[in-house]
Amino acid sequence: MERTFVMVKPDGVKRGLIGDIVSRFEQKGFTLRGIKLLHIDRPLAERHYGEHREKPFFGELVDYLTSGEACAMIWEGQHAVANARSLIGKTNPVEAVPGTIRGDFAMDVASNVVHGSDSPESAEREISLFFGESAAVYMFPNPPITH
Ligand code: PPS
Repeated sequence: MERTFVMVKPDGVKRGLIGDIVSRFEQKGFTLRGIKLLHIDRPLAERHYGEHREKPFFGELVDYLTSGEACAMIWEGQHAVANARSLIGKTNPVEAVPGTIRGDFAMDVASNVVHGSDSPESAEREISLFFGESAAVYMFPNPPITH
């Protein structure tokens, strides 16, 4: 079993797409292992996209990720990274085929609705970044509500 990190970006959250995206992962056969809504600050966005620091679109990417709440998730399954990438579709929605998340919900690479880790190593790094260093098997962080 493998885990991957997936995030509904602020445009996806604002458009009310969390439910559709979660549903597609569940229907595919993934198991949800962690989920949280957060407003990402600039230092976290810059760490997450650190490998793209020199790209011309880096500033725009950080502005975009910090523009509202995002929904961070851990999904588990066989070949989780590769299966999630095919479910999500090509980075540029122009090339993403219908039936994929970006093919169905996005028009522009600068607001492409969702992020998925590009390798198992990136997935573990991103899970640690968003869910904490001790997220060996991440479970819901809140204690059960008792009355
Ligand atoms: S690269 O150049 O191939 O390494 O970059 P790529 O992996 O395609 O994309 C890295 C992330 O940057 C986003 N991206 C962009 N954002 C804004 N403007 C432009 N032009 C642009 N091009 C790529 C892309 O969606 C990737 O983010 P994630 O969250 O990983 O999808």
